[in-house]
Amino acid sequence: MGKIWVFNGPNLNLLGLREPEHYGSSTLAEIDQEMLRLTNEAGISAECRQTNHEGVLLDWIQALTPADFLILNPGAWTHTSYALRDAISAVRVPTIEVHLSNIHAREAFRANSMIAPVCIGQISGLGAESYELAMRYAIKHQVRNSKP
Ligand code: DQA
Repeated sequence: MGKIWVFNGPNLNLLGLREPEHYGSSTLAEIDQEMLRLTNEAGISAECRQTNHEGVLLDWIQALTPADFLILNPGAWTHTSYALRDAISAVRVPTIEVHLSNIHAREAFRANSMIAPVCIGQISGLGAESYELAMRYAIKHQVRNSKP
């Protein structure tokens, strides 16, 4: 069975301090901890990472395989990065796009996601629970796909 990866893009290291009216009060460390609790409970290996450098995120995605699963909050790159979309598409890694805030209820530029068309789905606006729901799906997906 592949691994479940949780990748976070720019400024998400500031969660807890950053605009709590949009992003809530949980820190990224707390979210990561909950992700690993869920995967440990299911006996699936997982890893959480964050970067403020787009090329680093592209390198991480290129290293994935179709047997892996990706939960991705690309931060503002959601709205700008054709390269990110192409990387997900190239690797064919099943991906869920997550956002803490509801990107459809904010500034117009946020409503547009470059990666949504190459993701299984998008979970947006449920705060830290966006990640939790994505992880519950990812675990089911991995268990289902590991059966002979
Ligand atoms: C975000 C939404 C993006 O528009 C924003 O640039 C972020 C965080 C979210 O989780 O709500 O950095 O991805």
